[in-house]
Amino acid sequence: MNLILLGPPGVGKGTQAKLLIDRFGIPQISTGDILRAAVRDLTPMGVKAKGFMDAGALVPDEVVIGIVEERLAQPDCQKGFILDGFPRTVPQADALGKVLSGMGKQIDHVVSLSVDKDELLKRLTGRRACSKCGAGYHVAFAPSKVAGVCDACGGDLFQREDDKEATILNRLAVYEAQTAPLISYYGAAGVLRSVDGLGTVEGVQAEILAVLQGAR
Ligand code: AP5
Ligand code: MG
Repeated sequence: MNLILLGPPGVGKGTQAKLLIDRFGIPQISTGDILRAAVRDLTPMGVKAKGFMDAGALVPDEVVIGIVEERLAQPDCQKGFILDGFPRTVPQADALGKVLSGMGKQIDHVVSLSVDKDELLKRLTGRRACSKCGAGYHVAFAPSKVAGVCDACGGDLFQREDDKEATILNRLAVYEAQTAPLISYYGAAGVLRSVDGLGTVEGVQAEILAVLQGAR
């Protein structure tokens, strides 16, 4: 199954993708995670991307298209994949379509998640992640047992650089201007499945599974 998770910053794409990996045995391709690893490792791509990411702006299309094209060619994507945070512009969506058709593949479902802006702000300002294993937390909605320490591996929890309120507001504006048009883009292609992102993580996952199985 070839899947795109579409939605604004903080809506729960990463959280839901992690559950879908286990469910379907297909990998998550998060351009945000790949770019953050490149920034951390000071690769040439990371050095180039950092300024855009810290400002809450999009990294240039050609950079992310290259990342995804390379990643989709890996053997673990043969059975399917979950794109999280890509595509984010119409040119990225067009490029993805071309890459996939060159591989004899297509997108099966675009799951479009939505919640209101106040909820997005709460989710993003309270988000924390483990610096060692990457596990995700929220200070109020999914707290670790010991504040600042990962339950799974004991690593330190950190707050993402772009989860400061001013940057979050810019990311939300960028989403509206550049990414939201993809809702009608994929609607017209007949692959859009809209899911309410409000509710428990498990409840949202159940809704996603229902739309993927055509039950709703
Ligand atoms: P990226 O990493 O993709 O960030 P994003 O799209 O802004 O999305 P987030 O990761 O912030 O949110 P999410 O939807 O994954 O939410 P999560 O599950 O963590 O991109 C970062 C940057 O990289 C971009 O700004 C850009 O610069 C660059 N970039 C990346 N891709 C690019 C592209 N294609 N083109 C150009 N540039 C690109 O959940 C958030 C919080 O809420 C967590 O704390 C979680 O625990 C909590 N939570 C989740 N679900 C629930 C629930 N149901 N109830 C309560 N809390 C919940
Ligand atoms: Mg994410």
